[in-house]
Amino acid sequence: MHMDEQIEAFRLKGAKVPTHRMIKTKEQIDGVRKAGEMNTKVLDYIEPYVKEGISTGELDRLVHEYTIKLGCIPACLNYKGYPKSVCTSIDEVVCHGIPDDQRILKQGEIINVDCTTICNGYFGDASRMYCIGDVSPEKMRLVQVTKECLNIGYETAKPWTFLGDVGVAVNRHAMENGYSVVRKIGGHGVGVAFHEDPWVSHIGTPGGDYLLVPGMIFTIEPMVNMGKADVWQDETDGWTVRTEDGSPSAQWEYTILITETGAEILSR
Ligand code: MF3
Ligand code: CO
Ligand code: CO
Repeated sequence: MHMDEQIEAFRLKGAKVPTHRMIKTKEQIDGVRKAGEMNTKVLDYIEPYVKEGISTGELDRLVHEYTIKLGCIPACLNYKGYPKSVCTSIDEVVCHGIPDDQRILKQGEIINVDCTTICNGYFGDASRMYCIGDVSPEKMRLVQVTKECLNIGYETAKPWTFLGDVGVAVNRHAMENGYSVVRKIGGHGVGVAFHEDPWVSHIGTPGGDYLLVPGMIFTIEPMVNMGKADVWQDETDGWTVRTEDGSPSAQWEYTILITETGAEILSR
């Protein structure tokens, strides 16, 4: 196969090349595309409910019920003991915020809703940010710039270039805007499992990391902090990740497929 020869040529030049598992078959790609579409539907469905006065516990129930109605399974539920069907991360919560019936959304908050859907055994993963009512211009700008970081990362992802350049592009845009990018947590291969190789740094190394090849599927999901990059994980619930300095954090996520000519968004 022609592609194998191309990959071999890069390997001989010393490049880190993807394993067979990282390159999906046509059948797998179609399965993940469908799962991605279902996941996007769940995020579209939840959107009008993400308003002042609703609890994150209620958002979780809505996600759960709608996912089941679509004939799918919420991947988060029971994943390594995670107790809910979606992650809801507000203000200084960076990611993995656990929905709670007592936690009511208030005006001025920013929230990330992160959904992952299993459809016929395939996985789609994406997240979006919402501003609750009137939000400060500073927080609105953080949400906007983080979305730009994701789109810049997506546009950088092309076959026969390197994964390390994706993170470099993401980090550059965040830094230019005076923000910092979380280093410890990254994107990931996804499709036949929730979290597969490769791990996707949002800092990156120029020309480094894996060679990108058509058929690779992974997420880009930068977490961008208004203050310092440091984060910590709550030991009480075992999940919630917060900024060390208490500054707000934003995140957007796509599942993307590397194609012959660039990349395709499988879930947004
Ligand atoms: N959806 C998250 C991601 O983008 C992972 C959440 S894991 C959970 O990788 F257990 F917290 F749901
Ligand atoms: Co993800
Ligand atoms: Co996610």
